[in-house]
Amino acid sequence: MKELWQSRTSFVLASIGSAIGLGNIWRFPYVCYECGGGAFLIPFLVALLTAGIPLMILEYSLGHKFAGCAPLALGSIKKGFEILGWFALLVGFGIVTYYAVVMGWCFNYLGFSLNLAWGENTQAFFFDQFLKISESPLQIGSVQWLIALGLILTWIAIVASIWRGAKTVGKVVYFTVLIPWVILIVFVIRGVTLPGALEGLRFYLTPDFSALLNYRVWLHAYSQVFFSLTIGFGVQITYASFLPRDSDIVNNAFLVSLADAATAFVGGFAVFATLGYYSFQSGLPVSEVVKSGPQLAFVTYPTIIRLLPFGSVVFGVLFFLMLLTLGIDSAFSLVEAGAASLIEKFKLKRTHVNIGFALIAAGVGFIYTTKSGLYWLDIVDYFMNNFGLLLVGVIMCIAAGWFYNIKSIREYANGKSDFTIGAWWDFCIRILTPVVVGALFITNVIDRIKASYGGYPRIAEFIGGWLVIGIFVVVGLLLFKKKRRT
Ligand code: TRP
Repeated sequence: MKELWQSRTSFVLASIGSAIGLGNIWRFPYVCYECGGGAFLIPFLVALLTAGIPLMILEYSLGHKFAGCAPLALGSIKKGFEILGWFALLVGFGIVTYYAVVMGWCFNYLGFSLNLAWGENTQAFFFDQFLKISESPLQIGSVQWLIALGLILTWIAIVASIWRGAKTVGKVVYFTVLIPWVILIVFVIRGVTLPGALEGLRFYLTPDFSALLNYRVWLHAYSQVFFSLTIGFGVQITYASFLPRDSDIVNNAFLVSLADAATAFVGGFAVFATLGYYSFQSGLPVSEVVKSGPQLAFVTYPTIIRLLPFGSVVFGVLFFLMLLTLGIDSAFSLVEAGAASLIEKFKLKRTHVNIGFALIAAGVGFIYTTKSGLYWLDIVDYFMNNFGLLLVGVIMCIAAGWFYNIKSIREYANGKSDFTIGAWWDFCIRILTPVVVGALFITNVIDRIKASYGGYPRIAEFIGGWLVIGIFVVVGLLLFKKKRRT
């Protein structure tokens, strides 16, 4: 028997829970900062409206209409597209391996909050004392045991949360979605009342129209929208397949997408206000006050925590708990989608799949707990999001738009929904998104042929990037070829 959500709220919360995660509080600010702050917001909004929401509607409709997990739902369009479903899940797997490590950092920082161990120079603390970062990705260095411990705790928490599938998920998400918002608001208020905050907010909010001509900003905007909404991973397809037959689609898709974008946008106020404060203190322009990259949130938020007028320890603990609760429902959504797909096709036992998945993903994750971990994390993150994910996005649009009667999907969605979508949606799926994302993809490949990502050694880029993608294609193919058990 297929499991179903117990209520519409459970589904919406689970879907929001999958979308809202570290991507909003951790990835969004640093991608935005690297793209020049205000320069990023317009492309982000355009990508959200023309690709994010339309694809969310598409994923819900596919999952709901074909009542199956990603590989089977996509395979119902045309048999061969089943590979796409597996590949999408594998890209998600690639992400969850490092995502869990970032959650492991959060576990450590939860402990550090107890005595505000990061002190005044949060940047030096993060790199030198915490990560003990090496000189290059090729100088791998030893495993940092505290981070590894955090990683293990994370995986235990993930597996516990999904032990019984949609039933457990439906309850857990009430906590993992609602609490974070309350905490976030406290941080925004403290952030924007710091001296110099306005300068940071100006950097964040002033649009830079010349940056609209820079294709890299667009590339990052699209990949961030896909990452943040968890679309292109097969997760939303799978979650929607658990919906009762008469549930709403369009309204839910808007609700989830807008809630996700709003969370990232609001969180940005806290981060950029803090950057304004650094600029005020150091006299440097906002664009130069910190090294940007995956460490940004771990530099800015600890500063806010230290500067709270009272209750620093309490809020520090709450903040990292919040990141953990935000992250966990994103992480388990992918495990759940992967597990459901394997169970559906191969009739495996849920507990076996969950545990096997956790063991493999945690094992791979150890590489990011070494001294060179941050470099590998950066490389894999870049390749998964800017190659793997975009490829899935384009092919999914082509599959639905050109190999299936897209109008019938729209009519299906409209037939279920409180409000309806028009022909603009067909246009976004059939033409706009494939053309724009496809062009970005190709330009990006050319870029990578010219120079390695982030100036890393070519061999590191090859292993963390192309090789991983190559392996995923092969594994996807094998899963597709393997006979279905009935
Ligand atoms: N949407 C999640 C976030 O914003 C990130 C995410 C997308 C993710 N796909 C994933 C996390 C797959 C784990 C696995 O944080």
